[in-house]
Amino acid sequence: MSSLLVTGGAGFIGSNFVRLALAETDSSITVLDSLTYAGFEASLVGLDPARFKLVRGSVCDHELVNELVAAHDAVVHFAAESHNDNSLNDPSPFIQTNLVGTYELLEAVRRHEKRYHHISTDEVYGDLELDDPDRFTEATPYNPSSPYSATKAGSDLLVRAWVRSFGVQATISNCSNNYGPFQHVEKFIPRQITNLVDGIRPKLYGAGLNVRDWIHVDDHNSAVLRILEAGRIGETYLIGADGELDNKRVIEMILELMGQPTDAYDHVNDRAGHDLRYAIDSTKLRDELGWLPRYRNFDSGLAATIAWYRENEAWWRPMKQATEAKYAKVGQ
Ligand code: NAD
Ligand code: TYD
Repeated sequence: MSSLLVTGGAGFIGSNFVRLALAETDSSITVLDSLTYAGFEASLVGLDPARFKLVRGSVCDHELVNELVAAHDAVVHFAAESHNDNSLNDPSPFIQTNLVGTYELLEAVRRHEKRYHHISTDEVYGDLELDDPDRFTEATPYNPSSPYSATKAGSDLLVRAWVRSFGVQATISNCSNNYGPFQHVEKFIPRQITNLVDGIRPKLYGAGLNVRDWIHVDDHNSAVLRILEAGRIGETYLIGADGELDNKRVIEMILELMGQPTDAYDHVNDRAGHDLRYAIDSTKLRDELGWLPRYRNFDSGLAATIAWYRENEAWWRPMKQATEAKYAKVGQ
């Protein structure tokens, strides 16, 4: 594919995707991003202007989406409102961007007969019990818990309907929790790292027994590239790296790696409707497309992520105070 339109490419996963795709393919890339509170031009500095361009605009803008989709070979749709806690405070931008934005893109790829890849989350499946021997597969029924996951589930179902009813050339991937550089400090891991840099104790929701299945952002994105290259049209692929850990353990690891006592954190108010456990079985992706994660050691990936936040304070400092002020209002 010689030209890619990457929506949400100024966000955490999208900006890492752009860097990986420029390094590992010959494609030229246009990012369409409205630069919300979660999108940063600073996440895309230094890229080759002969192969990369940023267009500031919304995936809900019918004319702009139509024009950009027509001018590219394929679309990779990362743009979303992505934070569960924000969706509990105000669901409305989630409805607009995640549902209406996906609808606009689907109509445009249908009109112009373009390849489309839809980025989604394992949270569409709801949660698992801690002792459930099963993990999510492509056959797990949808059962989302929050406004965020409900809008992502709705967007996935729109894609499936556009494939079946209109023959749109689409694939979907549902990935587990990502970590790595350029992640907004509202999210669990960067929030705790930057708290510790600022001398604030990490904040654990509730008892902290909730399990997340961590994957390095570059592993997520290498799987997306592989699906673009060889994925079967109409199919869904789950992306995961066998990284299950409970939140309490992750906070203890961060404290240890940052030279603090492992009990130097606070329990804060739990999240409403907090999903207990996510876990991905990515056998289909591995068997069918031969994909494997490269970052198999969470400890060293986490240490590298801590080093990145220590070295890139200028990137995260401008968003830190406002993020903590929002959390303080709800006792988190
Ligand atoms: P993010 O919040 O860091 O980035 C989202 C980006 O989308 C930002 O650059 C923002 O400016 C942009 N955006 C928001 N609304 C827009 C609009 N209307 N038009 C154009 N751009 C808009 O999110 P992220 O963590 O990078 O997540 C990217 C995608 O991956 C999302 O679809 C999310 O559901 C999915 N996902 C995330 C994770 C995770 O762990 N973060 C896991 C699985 C799937
Ligand atoms: P988060 O990064 O918001 O991702 P998601 O909600 O998509 O899983 O949160 C990851 C886990 O960490 C989740 O169980 C909520 C918990 N959490 C905390 O315990 N403390 C925090 O300060 C934050 C932001 C999250």
